[in-house]
Amino acid sequence: GKPLVVAIDGPSGSGKSSVSKEVARRLKLAYLDTGAMYRALTWHCLKTGLDLQDGAAVEQASKELALELSTSANVEYVGVAGVDITEEIREPRISSAVSAVATTLGARNELIRRQRQIIDQHHRRMVVEGRDITTVVVPNAEVRVLLTASEEARMRRRGLQLGGTQTKEQLAAQVIHRDAKDSTVVNFTQAADGVITLDSSDLDFDETVETALSIVGKVI
Ligand code: C5P
Repeated sequence: GKPLVVAIDGPSGSGKSSVSKEVARRLKLAYLDTGAMYRALTWHCLKTGLDLQDGAAVEQASKELALELSTSANVEYVGVAGVDITEEIREPRISSAVSAVATTLGARNELIRRQRQIIDQHHRRMVVEGRDITTVVVPNAEVRVLLTASEEARMRRRGLQLGGTQTKEQLAAQVIHRDAKDSTVVNFTQAADGVITLDSSDLDFDETVETALSIVGKVI
């Protein structure tokens, strides 16, 4: 088929992952969760006791990372050198440390290179979600969407995702503080030129998916 890259960026708790996966299923496209790549690298750095402030060491680790990643929206799997870390990379200890890794420019360049390679391997027919997909990784994507939601909506969603066990302060640390740190290297709070903003604050999951699909329908 013709190339169809659906690039979806947005802050944490915007519903990006679940919406992106469903869009991939409905369009029968492959799916790439770039956040999982940053999380896997963070897991590896913590495992090896590396100093996350040491940019050269983090960059080196990114180049050596034996990453295994599912590119199907129907199969969730993230591994490093045969170790299944699918569940572990969602833990708060990873969420708290991931920005330090993701703001290391050398490591970003390496992961961006791998992301582009994966997209090419899928003949450019893929839903790709992250923070810098519409602006840096695939600025020429056929469809570019910024999925946003109010702070309240995002904290509520992340709280549900973590099983309702987190305090308001913990959720703020997970959602708002992490976004603030991430924003120092990538801008995902405002839509770049040509990027369509989809505000999901007042939409439920199905409505958000339908809106995203209609955006895709307009360009293909
Ligand atoms: O999307 P998710 O919350 O799993 O992303 C985890 C982290 O990975 C983000 O907080 C950010 O630090 C980093 N990230 C990034 N660029 C992307 C995707 C994720 O910097 N394209």
